[in-house]
Amino acid sequence: MVSLLLLIVLGLAEGIGLLMIIPLLHLIGLGGAADSGVVTAFIGRSLALLGLPLTLPAILCVYVALVASCAVASRFRDMQNIKIIQGFTYFLRNDLYEDLTRVDWLSFTRIRAADITHVLTAGMEMVGGGGQLLFMLVSTLVIAAVNIVVAFTLSPAMTALALGIGALLLLILRPFNRQALHIGKEFHQAREEMFAVVTDNLGGMKVAKSYGLEKRCAHHFRVATGRLVDQVIKFARLSTATHMVNEIGAAVALSVLFLCGVEVMQLPAAYLLLLAFLFARVLPKFSQAQRYYQWICNTLPSYGAVLAMQDRLVQGQEPRCASAGQPLRLEQEIELRGVSFRYDQTSHDDAVHEVDLMIPARRLTAITGPSGAGKSTLADLIMGLLVPDQGQVLIDGAPLEGPRLHDWRSAVGYVPQETFLFHDTVRANLHCAQPDAGEEDLWRVLQLAAAAEFVARLPQGLDTVLGDRGVRLSGGERQRLALARALLRRPALLLLDEATSSLDVENERQIQEAVRRMPRDMTVVVIAHRLSTVRLSERIVVMDQGRVAAVGAWDQLANQAGLFRSLVQAREGTPRL
Ligand SMILES: Nc1ncnc2c1ncn2[C@@H]1O[C@H](COP(=O)(O)OP(=O)(O)OP(=O)(O)O)[C@@H](O)[C@H]1O
Ligand SMILES: [Mg+2]
Repeated sequence: MVSLLLLIVLGLAEGIGLLMIIPLLHLIGLGGAADSGVVTAFIGRSLALLGLPLTLPAILCVYVALVASCAVASRFRDMQNIKIIQGFTYFLRNDLYEDLTRVDWLSFTRIRAADITHVLTAGMEMVGGGGQLLFMLVSTLVIAAVNIVVAFTLSPAMTALALGIGALLLLILRPFNRQALHIGKEFHQAREEMFAVVTDNLGGMKVAKSYGLEKRCAHHFRVATGRLVDQVIKFARLSTATHMVNEIGAAVALSVLFLCGVEVMQLPAAYLLLLAFLFARVLPKFSQAQRYYQWICNTLPSYGAVLAMQDRLVQGQEPRCASAGQPLRLEQEIELRGVSFRYDQTSHDDAVHEVDLMIPARRLTAITGPSGAGKSTLADLIMGLLVPDQGQVLIDGAPLEGPRLHDWRSAVGYVPQETFLFHDTVRANLHCAQPDAGEEDLWRVLQLAAAAEFVARLPQGLDTVLGDRGVRLSGGERQRLALARALLRRPALLLLDEATSSLDVENERQIQEAVRRMPRDMTVVVIAHRLSTVRLSERIVVMDQGRVAAVGAWDQLANQAGLFRSLVQAREGTPRL
């Protein structure tokens, strides 16, 4: 609002500044007899109000004062605009990010990482740029409008003629503007593609190198960036053509107006000069407004993509419920009652199909079965990351839904196969699970996870920075650290999904021992292919094609004909690490 008001005041100030040229011309003897009318009288009256005489130095002083205050005010306006735009993009960006954090797990897995990165970074920059251009467009149009009003007070006929020529130019340039929107869309897609190629190539660089695919990666990147350059050049071609047509149009318009002013309307010299000056100012503004408009068209698809992403994230939001803020406790059991889940509603296959299962509290339960059997999906359902399409998950007899969902998740210590560690110190990586844990607690869980020895050997111990710019850990070391982190929370349920698959037998044995010695109030579910991992469990759940094929203790299952026995027999043929 303040910005818009400033725009109008600035436009007016500029108009008054221009009007002052008339008495100026008159004073230096350039004005004809006819020009000493309304404008000079108005300026004279205004100066008299300020207690100034209508003299050359007075007019020049007022003129300088006017320009100076305009310059100060326009700086203020520009800063104001930048703050508004930055505030808007800051808000939009954070709003989008918050939506992303609240989206349910299934919807999240369906979003391409490159797309969200693109929208949050380059896409948002484009939106900010577009907003800035919008301000510039409005400001240009306001200044042009004030100039037109001034021109209108001087000669309505000439101004009408100028507006007519302007409208004609606008009509000629209409297809150009439509094309700008089209190029904007292609530009957006090309940039999105480039982001996807970079993300894919960086993620898979090791594999690419080992397969000798560097050239192919470089080729993909070249193609993507080439497309981007094509679009930029296409847009530049359009923008420069618009500018060219505008320049020629402006010259023609100015000549026609001047000719009409002299030959047809026979305007006095001072008016003519001022009109020519005014139109010479307005016409480039008109061309500038056109350019701004095209640039805005170019940024619109990015804004569209931000809104589309926001829409998608809002659609996938988890219901917001006020959680009790206390992690749930598990006293008796986790029960799955007729639980079915499918990732793709259009397919006919359930990833988990009508599972009835009881996981007793304070026991060690193992889930095993062939790859793709639905073990990880079952784990996600137990954690409440996925919600069953049919059936229910019950924690101590109460359905896992609403606010309990959040409280349950904060009671679960989950360690996946692909562990995630922050690019931060070992200490910070552990503290994120339990910020108030003391030094002793940290070493205790590191000991339990068979990680104390290697952490002690790190250059700065607990304060060693891990990750890209720090110390790189082996797969097994990362797993042990992730396990320590999960333990630090003293979770009600410790859920390990192939979390010891990268460990050697000795380390795995140590961890199994630790798991067996876990505090008595902890329930442990271990998902594993390795039968050595499963062996120590009191209950083994065998999954096959989304169903529970068998449940029982090791000896019981190994003696029954079925999938488990064939798995045991197959493994016994292969030497253990
Ligand atoms: N995000 C997903 N989108 C679509 N389908 C999925 C998704 N995740 C898993 N699936 C499918 O669901 C089925 C079960 O997958 P799940 O990851 O649960 O198997 P798993 O038993 O954990 O296998 P593995 O031992 O290899 O880890 C598979 O057919 C898989 O293709
Ligand atoms: Mg799995």
